[in-house]
Amino acid sequence: MFDEEGTVVDVSAVDANDAEVRSIEATEVTTRFARGWHCLGLASSYGDGQPHTINAFGGKLVVFQGEDGTVNVLDAYCRHMGGDLSQGSVRGNEIACPFHDWRWGGDGRCKQIPYSRRVPLRARTKAWPTMQRDGLLFVWNDPEGNQPPEEFAVPAIRGLEEGEWTDWLWKPILVNVNCREIIDNVVDMAHFFYVHGAFPTSCRNVFEGHVATQYYEGHQRDDLLMYVDEDGKPMPKLLKQYSEASYYGPSYMIDYLSYEFEAGMVDTVLINCHYPVTKDSFILQYGLRVKKPEGMPTEESESMAKAMAKGVEAGFLQDVQIWKNKARIDNPLLCEEDGPVYQLRRWYEQFYVDAAEVTPEMTDRFEFEIDTSKAIEAWKQEVADNLAKQQAVGV
Ligand SMILES: [Fe+2]
Repeated sequence: MFDEEGTVVDVSAVDANDAEVRSIEATEVTTRFARGWHCLGLASSYGDGQPHTINAFGGKLVVFQGEDGTVNVLDAYCRHMGGDLSQGSVRGNEIACPFHDWRWGGDGRCKQIPYSRRVPLRARTKAWPTMQRDGLLFVWNDPEGNQPPEEFAVPAIRGLEEGEWTDWLWKPILVNVNCREIIDNVVDMAHFFYVHGAFPTSCRNVFEGHVATQYYEGHQRDDLLMYVDEDGKPMPKLLKQYSEASYYGPSYMIDYLSYEFEAGMVDTVLINCHYPVTKDSFILQYGLRVKKPEGMPTEESESMAKAMAKGVEAGFLQDVQIWKNKARIDNPLLCEEDGPVYQLRRWYEQFYVDAAEVTPEMTDRFEFEIDTSKAIEAWKQEVADNLAKQQAVGV
């Protein structure tokens, strides 16, 4: 065989290897959206008596609070002539369509048509079940149209009743990939070192029922700056980080995150949640509350919370950068120190099949702890090498 310049090229080695090459497999992203509670953010952000537009689950929703204080979620498109209710107005406990003023109640029923003698029978639109917990609003998605089973109710965040906490710092970010990508994070220890500049020392997973948990311990990489405060100054050195992070269902994670500094421990709670917009995009949201350390003035604890939120956001953006450029891969090629990616994806699958199709492999208790000894040894070396290099150039 000849290349472009006419030189003989030996391809026998390539041919011999070809059969051994691993291919990436990826099925088409499904247009089905996960069954489960999805957080739409702070309930208070919907409490202004105005209709709000939420693009989610491949469609459009209207969220509005009626006079009675109930926050309602309906399909946004009026079943009359397709008007966008989220452009309409709240009248009492009803939402009025901007097109012909048809009035819809939070239960999805048309309550009145001011210009007509009667409302047509069966004038009903889709009302989404909602719940509120810890000041957050949730909506239940179920492609089969069933009501939310009691056992899937979102749990309250533990510990908020003890001590004083900063208010929610809450932020949504649009991410243009399928939301499965963020779920893999639950088992992925090594990326903390390479993507987030952290130094994991222990990582364990437990999946059971509709809950998937990661227990994580780590510390700061000495060769990198991990956190800076609002003015860009380095934060006090982080000695250790403890995290217990659980997904309750397909999209709502409570992460109990504690930071150990020389001056003491700081407890925080991080919410990491999302809802799908389309099959190729989702709204990622994070919320952070920090327990005010005893004796610390409110102002100081609030600015600490802000700096931490900034760190959290920077972390998500590091993930997003990877997701935007990576391939979807159904058959990841794993080494021993990678977490249980396949088991996690089996767990996640339960939310994408009919309730009757959920199998024990998806929900049975599963535990896995990564042996981190080799990783710690390699990463210590890498950090030491980097520090030596920095010293050599006088950083
Ligand atoms: Fe990550």
